[in-house]
Amino acid sequence: MNRLQTRLGKLELQNPVTVASGTFGLEYGEFFDLNRLGAYVTKTITLKPKIGNPPPRLYETEAGLLNSIGLQNPGVEEFIKLNLPELKEVLSIPIIVSFSGGTIEEFTTILSKLERTDGIAGYEVNISCPNVEKEGIAFGVDALVVYELIRRLRSFTNKELIVKLTPNVTDIVSIANAAEEGGADSMALINTVQGMAIDPLSGKSRVKMGVCGYSGPAIKPIALANVFKVAQRVKLPILAMGGICTWQDAMEFFYAGASAIAVGTYNFVNPKACVDLIDGLDNYLSEKGATLQDIIGKVSF
Ligand SMILES: Cc1cc2nc3c(=O)[nH]c(=O)nc-3n(C[C@H](O)[C@H](O)[C@H](O)COP(=O)(O)O)c2cc1C
Repeated sequence: MNRLQTRLGKLELQNPVTVASGTFGLEYGEFFDLNRLGAYVTKTITLKPKIGNPPPRLYETEAGLLNSIGLQNPGVEEFIKLNLPELKEVLSIPIIVSFSGGTIEEFTTILSKLERTDGIAGYEVNISCPNVEKEGIAFGVDALVVYELIRRLRSFTNKELIVKLTPNVTDIVSIANAAEEGGADSMALINTVQGMAIDPLSGKSRVKMGVCGYSGPAIKPIALANVFKVAQRVKLPILAMGGICTWQDAMEFFYAGASAIAVGTYNFVNPKACVDLIDGLDNYLSEKGATLQDIIGKVSF
């Protein structure tokens, strides 16, 4: 067995390194062979096309990135017609499609459309979006809604079903439990943390939408704590993300209990971050005479 091989629910991955939804596209193929990744995760798609939020919608802080992209995407029909064939042509690794909806019905409609295509290995369900039926409160903050959503989605597919959790909740373990009881195969965490920045001289919000999503190195300890807490209490495998830049960052997440990791914001800093990370992990584990499986969940105190 290859020392980096890992399993995420139903998926056997050649290595544990994937990309975080919304931070990576086929254009990175200019920098490295994308088939070196463990898996590829798409930008979140929705039922109808979305033009996203008005600019400015990105702002770099001292140790991270604020964003309010607003799920800009071409919609599921266009994705199936144009984007998926391109992905299938280039990639021989598992393709994971991230999707999101404003109602449970919207989620199931998207999934049933995607299920009629081939070439998709699994789905990442983005539940950080506002629930139209529940006064716009994000799906991912209500354990009962998460349970019901995942139960319904489970009945539409046998493929890998990953639930992506938001850290903007009081008790992430109860949400992870609800995803497990609903029938998810694995969990991805964390989505962005809420953040904001204001120009101290003009008093103007740096990002048009005001409160938005915060990512990058600043959120790594928060992500790590969430991964550790969930790994202690829930059996499903974890795809971890949040501030991961180097192989050493990734090692922290494996020790905390993650079976795979994703690089997000750091792709914007080093477009070769993922392959640097794969090579770094491989060298380190080889020197140590260990496999990834020897590390997962083995944090000591
Ligand atoms: C510009 C940008 C766009 C993002 N778009 C999505 C998205 O479409 N769907 C999603 O689930 N997460 C999205 N995210 C969140 C990332 O996938 C990831 O969960 C988060 O940024 C934490 O990882 P990082 O610190 O490595 O970036 C986005 C993040 C950024 C910075």
